[in-house]
Amino acid sequence: MTKILVIGAAGQLGIELVLALQAQYGVDAVDISDIRVPEDERVMRSRFLHLDATDEYTLSKALEDGRYEAVYHLAAMLSATSEIKPLAAWNLNMQSLLNVLEAAKEGWVNRIFWPSSIAVFGGQTSKKSVPQEALLDPMTVYGISKQAGEYWCRYYHAKFGVDVRSIRYPGLIGHRSEPGGGTTDYAVEIYYAAAAGQSYTCFLQANQALPMMYMDDAVRGTLELMETSADRIQVRTSYNLGAMSFTPIEVTNSIQQHLPNFNVHFKPDHRQGIAKNWPESIDDTAARTDWGWKPKILLPEMTSIMLNAIRKKTQLAVH
Ligand code: SER
Repeated sequence: MTKILVIGAAGQLGIELVLALQAQYGVDAVDISDIRVPEDERVMRSRFLHLDATDEYTLSKALEDGRYEAVYHLAAMLSATSEIKPLAAWNLNMQSLLNVLEAAKEGWVNRIFWPSSIAVFGGQTSKKSVPQEALLDPMTVYGISKQAGEYWCRYYHAKFGVDVRSIRYPGLIGHRSEPGGGTTDYAVEIYYAAAAGQSYTCFLQANQALPMMYMDDAVRGTLELMETSADRIQVRTSYNLGAMSFTPIEVTNSIQQHLPNFNVHFKPDHRQGIAKNWPESIDDTAARTDWGWKPKILLPEMTSIMLNAIRKKTQLAVH
């Protein structure tokens, strides 16, 4: 039986990936781990390992015992929190990755997925339709950790044959889990405010375009990448992945198609300083060519899905 471990299963992407992996491979095929216990009951149907991914001994023991076919290593501190706690972010983001790569080098893990981010781009990188091989010029601690992580992945693949695969995610927007500590979090919060009939105060500027993706596309893309045969994976740093690009005012307009009275105020904070260095849009030709990536959901459809799903979820919670 395929055995999979998701590290960071209580996070925004972790919850979603666990649900998708349970659906695809069965609840018993998936083990989950985190330093906090995931609140989602469906996620918790899988066996839970309470562990700190920076703890080399505990993690390597779990991986040696588990002999996993695939490990999805998602534990990380996101961009905005990392700027507040830079050394803790570096320690978590780097040490945990090295622990997983070392376990794979020992032969205890067959395949690793590790997420990178559009945050690897920055200062001197072009802003529009950023190519796969663009200059990486990260301006944040989070971006530096992702850039370094990408090169560690490529190094372990080239030197030790570790099959590690990666995607540079744009901002991820879904309704089953909530983000925390990221610069793109506004694009989830805005839907929750709108669905609750409240106005929203946006921490980015009205015209700050960023690359974004609906969560189901991101999860599907991740599983597709992991199912691709190794000889087709040409990029061993991390794949650019595009879907849509929008500004806070554009998502506001999209919501107003459904809720004409929805109101947004703009009060940019330190996160605007992070966002202004990130790309507006991404060229993902390499992912399309190598493993057939194609986004399905764009802004208008995502807005309907998000508003309906959040309304349904909150109504269920009330009754
Ligand atoms: N969504 C992430 C963040 O905002 C970027 O990878 O930090």
